Amino acid sequence: MTAVLPCLALALLCVLQAAGEVPVQPGFNAEKFAGKWHFAATVSNCSVFLKMKDGMKSPTATISFTPEGDLAMKLAWPLPDRCQRLELLFQQSGQAGHYTAAQEKRDLRVMETDYSHYAIVHETQHSERQPSTALQLLMREQDVSPQLLQKFEELIPTVGLTKAMLAVLPKSDQCTAATS
Ligand SMILES: *[C@@H]1O[C@H](CO)[C@@H](O)[C@H](O)[C@H]1NC(C)=O
Repeated sequence: MTAVLPCLALALLCVLQAAGEVPVQPGFNAEKFAGKWHFAATVSNCSVFLKMKDGMKSPTATISFTPEGDLAMKLAWPLPDRCQRLELLFQQSGQAGHYTAAQEKRDLRVMETDYSHYAIVHETQHSERQPSTALQLLMREQDVSPQLLQKFEELIPTVGLTKAMLAVLPKSDQCTAATS
């Protein structure tokens, strides 16, 4: 299980290749983006994610920014038997809303957000044999509207993925007690 975890994290963080193609929220405001988000849906071609997506529950991310402008993400991930916690740090790139983690060759872009309800985040990672891409639908509240889910689904082909790779993640209270 432990050996699988880094790749599980990648399943959440798996994303794209051609950097220039992915749009970023214009005028991205880090201060407004900080705080707690629920992963409502994930679509990814990461092989580990695809194997376990049907059993996955919705993780929670608490996002903050360092004084240097880097993005720190604390993940609380409900697994069947426990709550797995991970901390990830992404360095700011030249562009607001675009972050990279050089060691793991990860790239994270906030494609679109209204800050108070939803965000769509695009990620790629190149550290494994095969690069993978992911798109995440993050929600401030756990419930996602059908309209928002539809909007998310329409974005899937634009990043080279298919709907068969989508998981709408059910809620879990596995991590609630310790999260707050
Ligand atoms: C995932 O999709 C991206 C973008 O289409 C592609 O570059 C990458 O090779 C794919 N990776 C896998 C594991 O299929």
